[in-house]
Amino acid sequence: MSWQRWQTAMEQALYAPDSGFYRRPEGPVGHFRTSVHASPHYAGAVARLLREVDRELGRPEVITLVDVGAGRGELLTGVLAAVGGLDDRGDLGGRLRPVAVEVAERPAGVPAEVEWTDRVPTGFAGLLFANEWLDNVPLDIAEVDEDGVLRLVEVTPAGEERLAAPVAGADAEWAARWWPAEEPGARVELGRSRDAAWRGAVAGLERGLAVAVDYAHTRADRPLFGTLAGFRAGREVEPVPDGSCDVTAHVALDSAAAPGLHSLWTTQRAALRALGVDGGRPPLELASTDPVAYLRALGGAGESAELTDPAGLGGFRWLTQTVRMPVPEALRGLDGWQTLPS
Ligand SMILES: C[S@@+](CC[C@H](N)C(=O)[O-])C[C@H]1O[C@@H](n2cnc3c(N)ncnc32)[C@H](O)[C@@H]1O
Repeated sequence: MSWQRWQTAMEQALYAPDSGFYRRPEGPVGHFRTSVHASPHYAGAVARLLREVDRELGRPEVITLVDVGAGRGELLTGVLAAVGGLDDRGDLGGRLRPVAVEVAERPAGVPAEVEWTDRVPTGFAGLLFANEWLDNVPLDIAEVDEDGVLRLVEVTPAGEERLAAPVAGADAEWAARWWPAEEPGARVELGRSRDAAWRGAVAGLERGLAVAVDYAHTRADRPLFGTLAGFRAGREVEPVPDGSCDVTAHVALDSAAAPGLHSLWTTQRAALRALGVDGGRPPLELASTDPVAYLRALGGAGESAELTDPAGLGGFRWLTQTVRMPVPEALRGLDGWQTLPS
């Protein structure tokens, strides 16, 4: 029986070169639906945000769109479809550089102009976007024992758990600051690995906007028993770290935020509405004047409603951080929690 900390177990289960869950040919889309798959309106909203970032940056010679945790390249493919072919891109012209950052191999069918890499580029101007990436960044888990001591949880590949050494050092400091827990049985998903991952990615941005979208919580609403979960073939399953399923935990987005930048936390519902995605139904008159357009608009409204449903994808949180750039116009005045650079 081999016992490991959760971070090590998750790293192997998800990303081991030959057997990791995310190395599989079917990709994430074979197991669950993200906003990217729910509707092309999502890529359309990212395209609109990209245009706003481009304008705020004064239309640089190259405007880079980096998709971190790009899956099978679906979001970039959708954004390219939304902005049109090279001849139709108008103000974006030939300046757009789309980059997919992904541990899995480049799949067939991704447009040739998309760069495929396993490292976030550095020194770029543009938009860094990460949809459901951070929840898959491996992390350690701790639990409060009967004496009130916070201990690391160890796990076997079969998913059996035991409590191990007390949490110490930087993890203990992180827990005290971001996720204090005292009640026996309470669990803490230690976020330092995610904080480092996000800050490392944002550091690549010379100028622009960084957006992380995920199931998330802040100090105001940490879940008492954590959020670790498994998914396989569209169903929620036990989070067993043997490579057979996704293993995911919601993100402590407030701790992840890179310090010293303007930051805005809001819901996906608010962000997408600000970017022109609303679930409103088309006017009924359209049904008699142009039934085909009415049905198309109705389908689109259904998809938009799914993306903005507060009980579903609309409840995702968006963390947006600007680097040497004003907040894009669409996001100004949004409901949410903002912090200014310190
Ligand atoms: C839940 S999927 C999301 C895929 C896509 N963004 C979407 O929304 O449909 C997470 C993806 O992040 C990738 N990933 C995780 N850690 C990564 C890393 N450090 N570098 C690059 N890709 C990573 C995984 O391989 C997986 O494809």
